[in-house]
Amino acid sequence: MHRDFLQTNLIENPNALASSGCNNLRMAPDPAVRIRAATAGDEAFIVEMARHACIIEDWPLPDSDDAEVLELLPPPGVVPIIAEEIRGDPVGAVWTYFSDPPLRTDANGKPLPELCIGVAPGRRGSGIGGLLMDALLADLAQVCESMCTNVHVRNPAQRLYERKGFRVVGQGHGPLGLAMVKALR
Ligand SMILES: CC(C)(COP(=O)(O)OP(=O)(O)OC[C@H]1O[C@@H](n2cnc3c(N)ncnc32)[C@H](O)[C@@H]1OP(=O)(O)O)[C@@H](O)C(=O)NCCC(=O)NCCS
Repeated sequence: MHRDFLQTNLIENPNALASSGCNNLRMAPDPAVRIRAATAGDEAFIVEMARHACIIEDWPLPDSDDAEVLELLPPPGVVPIIAEEIRGDPVGAVWTYFSDPPLRTDANGKPLPELCIGVAPGRRGSGIGGLLMDALLADLAQVCESMCTNVHVRNPAQRLYERKGFRVVGQGHGPLGLAMVKALR
């Protein structure tokens, strides 16, 4: 199960914060928001963002222990990136996970890391999602050739992904899912 996943990640991989590239705080264009690596205290917020990433429009949020939510949670060794208000609460998170079966694989059959991103509903549309994506792409480019994401055909997040260089490559998860891939190098 994914309970206490952040504690597990940090214990199993004590260098995770440094290797995430997020050991130094990065300031956002919005001076009220900064980017940092997740800590164990972010676990509930990350589950909340995974719940939001499961739905589009005003669909009801799934329960925290819904199988779809659990699948999106960061696996051991993955430290999410958090956007937070200075002296405030977290407002967004991004990380990668691996779905089963994988959305896409590389030429050697190795699963590509899959994007999961969420911004708190009241804070969307002000650049936080783009900022989180930039931080994740910079980190992943050091270790991966490419990554992928699944997006519902009606999810406006597709525009953000295209702006960041993802391209639709075919069918995603389910009949209304699109698979998108981004080359990182
Ligand atoms: C997708 C998401 C992370 C984008 O974060 P954000 O902070 O709003 O992103 P930015 O402000 O940097 O960029 C805005 C872009 O996000 C997308 N977007 C998706 N939902 C949006 C919303 N409710 N409000 C504003 N932008 C939204 C659009 O592509 C928008 O681009 P546009 O300006 O060309 O229309 C955020 O809307 C979100 O959490 N959505 C719900 C969870 C989700 O769908 N996750 C992705 C699963 S595939």
